[in-house]
Amino acid sequence: MTEKNAKLLVDGKEYDLPIMNGTLGNPVIDVSAVQQAGYWTYDPGFKVTAPVESAITFIDGGKGQLLHRGYPIDQLADNAEYLEVCYALLYGDLPNKAQKDEFYAKVQAHTAVHDQLRKFFEGFRRDAHPMAIMIGVVGALSAFYHNDLDLSDEEHREVTSIRLIAKMPTIAAMCYKYTRGEPFMYPRNSFSYAENFLYMMFATPADPEYKVNPVLVKAMDKIFTLHADHEQNASTSTVRLAGSTGANPYACISAGIGALWGPSHGGANEAVLNMLDEIGTVENVAEFMEKVKRREVKLMGFGHRVYKNFDPRAKVMKETCDEVLDALGIDDPQLELAMELERIALEDPYFVERNLYPNVDFYSGIILKAIGIPTSMFTVMFALARTSGWISHWLEMHSSPFKIGRPRQMYTGETERTFVKLEDR
Ligand code: SDX
Repeated sequence: MTEKNAKLLVDGKEYDLPIMNGTLGNPVIDVSAVQQAGYWTYDPGFKVTAPVESAITFIDGGKGQLLHRGYPIDQLADNAEYLEVCYALLYGDLPNKAQKDEFYAKVQAHTAVHDQLRKFFEGFRRDAHPMAIMIGVVGALSAFYHNDLDLSDEEHREVTSIRLIAKMPTIAAMCYKYTRGEPFMYPRNSFSYAENFLYMMFATPADPEYKVNPVLVKAMDKIFTLHADHEQNASTSTVRLAGSTGANPYACISAGIGALWGPSHGGANEAVLNMLDEIGTVENVAEFMEKVKRREVKLMGFGHRVYKNFDPRAKVMKETCDEVLDALGIDDPQLELAMELERIALEDPYFVERNLYPNVDFYSGIILKAIGIPTSMFTVMFALARTSGWISHWLEMHSSPFKIGRPRQMYTGETERTFVKLEDR
């Protein structure tokens, strides 16, 4: 909605730049007129660039606010099941009872994977990082559903979205089983989404009636919700950019998994546990913090491009951490270590001046470890949960005409040179 213009005055000429307002957040300036003046905009890291409009998720970094389809994240985490949140992300609102039953049945119909997919695992070493396996196997799904990939067909787009949400727990559990040399467990659709995942992770053919602790099921489902979506983060932007070429949606999600893997993004949860292992005890915290201030290391799980206040997910994650450890009677010294790091960081001017607060990755690893999930699987958990966000943004992009994403650059290389023969160089 254009109500007023910004003005660009350059080379003695004035250009109108329309200002548009969304429903929440900063107004945006349409800078496309810059090209008429013979210029491009420059914004390394896309710190102030909105390449799309979206109705899925809103973040207010100053307030520490996160809304999915308008619902605050703490209300969703405390009251909704992850699959209900998936429904809201995909379709625009939480489901009523009939819609919920139908959606859950659709997801349950797609939890199994083609038996040929099992052979893709055999190409990996048993000690391969599970994220490397996820990228390969999820990308390989592109080869299995050619009958449902007319992307102009809304039904094909929907079944693809449901397939991906349904199969990620199965593939994630297969990654875990493969690295442990254990046989894969098939999904049991009488279980809930999180229960089915934990069953496939920890049941064995020798113990097919393995019972998942309901406390862990509730915590796992809440962790999935806390990771479901987060606006135009690096991996979601990767999925959108790949999708803008018309690429196969399974390949787009595989690209998102690759982007998420980095330690500055979803790989931070694994890096937090490795950092806590390296620090060892509370007595070593002060020395570690000095290394951080000398910029020798980063305090993993802290800081965020958007949140300059508490990440609201970190608060819920910390509450869940306390609940799970209490329920399991676990006294994890790494929780005490993490809380000491947080206490010092929240008091130390170095962190306060830089608006560095715990983010979603700071406490998640402690809960995942308590559930029995190894550190190498932490980012796989993030990818599993974020698939609903990624595919919702992919669907939103396909719901209206779009153009291929093709940023420009400021070229600083050589100006035109004349070729010189080898013997003359
Ligand atoms: C996720 O985008 C999303 O929404 C992502 C995510 C999602 O749900 O999709 O929320 C998930 O990726 C959470 C972030 C997980 N990453 C980490 O925990 C890794 C540690 N954090 C940093 O790498 C960093 O904070 C980023 C990458 C998250 C944000 O980096 P920015 O916005 O580019 O900030 P910056 O690097 O410009 O930092 C500003 C200042 C710098 O100091 P100065 O050079 O100005 O003196 O803060 C410092 C940085 O050195 N700083 C840190 C720090 N993070 C920033 N110093 C120590 N430890 C840190 N963690």
